[in-house]
Amino acid sequence: VTDGVVRAPALLPVGGTPPLRGRALDELQVVSDGAVAYRDGMVLFAGPAADLPTELRSLPVTEARGAVVPGFVDCHTHLPFFGWRADEFEERLAGRTYRDMHGGGGIYRSARLLARASDEEVIEFCRPLAAEMLTHGTTATELKTGYGLSVEAELRHARLARRLSAAIPQETSVTLLACHAIPEGMSRDAWVDAVCAELIPAVAAEGLADAVDVYVEDIAFTVGDLERVAACALEHGLWVRCHADQLGTSGAAEAAVRLGARSADHLNHAGAGGVRALGDAPRTVATLLPVSTLFIGADRPPAQDLLAAGAAVALATDFNAGTSPCLSMAEVIAVAAALYRVPTLTAIAAATANAAWVLGMHDRHGSLRPGGRADFVVLDSDDPAMIPYRPGHNPISETWIGGDRVWKRG
Ligand code: NIG
Ligand code: FE
Repeated sequence: VTDGVVRAPALLPVGGTPPLRGRALDELQVVSDGAVAYRDGMVLFAGPAADLPTELRSLPVTEARGAVVPGFVDCHTHLPFFGWRADEFEERLAGRTYRDMHGGGGIYRSARLLARASDEEVIEFCRPLAAEMLTHGTTATELKTGYGLSVEAELRHARLARRLSAAIPQETSVTLLACHAIPEGMSRDAWVDAVCAELIPAVAAEGLADAVDVYVEDIAFTVGDLERVAACALEHGLWVRCHADQLGTSGAAEAAVRLGARSADHLNHAGAGGVRALGDAPRTVATLLPVSTLFIGADRPPAQDLLAAGAAVALATDFNAGTSPCLSMAEVIAVAAALYRVPTLTAIAAATANAAWVLGMHDRHGSLRPGGRADFVVLDSDDPAMIPYRPGHNPISETWIGGDRVWKRG
């Protein structure tokens, strides 16, 4: 049945108008003795159980043992990918850096692994990972290309993303990471030409992606490339996203804001100008990826400065085989708390409502309110503060999508 009421000892609906920032974050409140009512998988009411409208009181009731919060939205992942790179992690433990391995390893390595795998192998590698994401409370996710590195292979990657999407219960949004690494034997300019003249038009014509992303870095693409690709993406009705200031400062954060990107992601090396730009940005969310910071031992982004400047912040996994082999949003929240001092309710809003905004899904995902989808998780405690407090523990005991319980801890 997708009609019903879930009653919970604590409910965090995460209301307000996304992306949430500044005072809206301070106003977030946990409702004790809450209820969520839904019909046909859509929320009709979320709030104090005492305020449940009379006409909804006849719906079948499920009692949740722990707190109910919106399902997590993972707005930055590199799925679908194929194969792991644990040996590169071992090499980093021995002293090599992520930058050092760019070429033989890194993005090029995942591109070779993807090229050698059949479509079926890729889907069968990724499907269990999406199922594992469900057990960690992720009810909607981004999928990204970027391991194709040629027009044909990027189109294949995008088609694989749409095919994976059809095979999993989570709603997805596909991002064409058109500029991730410079294809071997090609100049940067020639690849950006091909992206604008061939790849983006083909992707738009086939409806294969919702957004276009550019990795701006000294080992990858420039702010000028981002500007060209963004103009082309917008012309084709696609949103813009950006891997910005991850390994070094490039001014990508400021450029992302200027270009009206939905997000600037990573931001480890964003400077004062980037913080100011994101603080004032009406539509560009600062997406922080704390597990990738932890995993590659990167410098911390100016998280406190961003929050103080009034930036809208999202949190995501950056799930990939190189810089963040972690798919748990609870772990992301835990690391954001310990490394960046992001408070619990701010972190949950960043992992739900603001993340949904980045993917353009905020009308139906990321918060529990009338008209949205009944996608939520039940925690194994009535205190959301237990999420950051116990890294390594999965705090999710049930995951619900569209009013259906799709997973329950055994
Ligand atoms: O977001 N920095 C660029 N891209 C990815 C890593 C991709 C890879 O190493 O496979 C990131 O960290
Ligand atoms: Fe990434």
